[in-house]
Amino acid sequence: MKKILVTGGCGYIGSHTIVDLLENGFDVISVDDNSRSTRYALSGIEKITGKKIKNYTVDLKSFDDLYAIFQEHENIEGIIHFAAYKAVGESVAAPLLYYENNMFGLINLLKCVKEFSIPHFVFSSSCTVYGNPDIIPVTEQSPTKPAESPYGATKQMGERIIQDFSAVEKTKSILLRYFNPVGAHPSNEIGELPLGKPMNLVPAITQTAIGKLPKMLVYGNDYDTRDGSCLRDYIHVSDIAHAHTLAIQYLINQKNKTQCDIFNLGTGNGVTVLEAIKTFEEVSGTKLNYEIGPRRAGDVIAIYANNDCAVQELGWKIQFGLKDMMQTAWAWEQKLKKEENLIKQQAVLN
Ligand code: WQD
Repeated sequence: MKKILVTGGCGYIGSHTIVDLLENGFDVISVDDNSRSTRYALSGIEKITGKKIKNYTVDLKSFDDLYAIFQEHENIEGIIHFAAYKAVGESVAAPLLYYENNMFGLINLLKCVKEFSIPHFVFSSSCTVYGNPDIIPVTEQSPTKPAESPYGATKQMGERIIQDFSAVEKTKSILLRYFNPVGAHPSNEIGELPLGKPMNLVPAITQTAIGKLPKMLVYGNDYDTRDGSCLRDYIHVSDIAHAHTLAIQYLINQKNKTQCDIFNLGTGNGVTVLEAIKTFEEVSGTKLNYEIGPRRAGDVIAIYANNDCAVQELGWKIQFGLKDMMQTAWAWEQKLKKEENLIKQQAVLN
């Protein structure tokens, strides 16, 4: 079986991608220091696939520890790199933390890719690189804009580092620009484990609905959109996960057009905050306690994807609609409430 090394494998998108890789016949190892995740995801992966995944609790900034993993594993076919800090607000408050962690980690990883001649590299990027687009939907050729946060800047710099690296090395790379990943695996064995107060919309909705938060704020309803609230392209995390498997297969089968191809991972449908809330209420049968609050600094007004490249080149087919996203997110929130202590114990075990 071809072996894939996944960094950040205990995280939200990483764990869902490992499930998809295993279900498609790959062998997988994970490298995750669990600074922003817990080993709880590994037990969920095992429950879904019946396979036990080895995770190396190594910080990518520790070059010698990372290098030793590559020495231990011959013939790694590819790397999928998720491990990075990703909270927009935190990155504004602590830029050096983000530049050090996200950039040093990537550079150390690429040094090992070069040293061990790893043939394929897939990078977790984000629609953040487009900033506030002038024209929507955005294609992979749409101009990128100065990042609104240090987090976004690390994604833009990461893309540039990988493009320059791939131009002079044999390694073939792919940049996957996620829109807004939401929801949880249909088995309800893995999902998002937000640390502290949720920044993102869907965890804020589900935590309010389950009573963990007294109410939530809609950050502005006076934007130039169909109902005044911001517009996004929400995409189920399992659809995102499968795109990573397709990307690795695309590289292995030498279908790549350049040394560093780029793909948008969005549904191609724009949904406003108020529409997302309405869909959640319909799916969950609960009335959400929210108020209209002030705009959030740095928010993009409206963005959604033109995903033709991923559909046509990768053969990507979207399986989950907005109702599935809300239904799986809600089921996961209800499970978290039941298993909160078990999850806390797992976190302590790390
Ligand atoms: C979506 C909309 C908010 C919370 C960010 C990153 C992106 C990716 C996903 C990592 C906005 C509104 C939110 C709330 C609200 N990160 N909202 N009340 O900002 O589009 O993207 O997270 O992969 O790279 O930039 O996602 O979910 O934070 O916000 O009204 O309590 O929901 O204002 O309009 P965002 P989000």
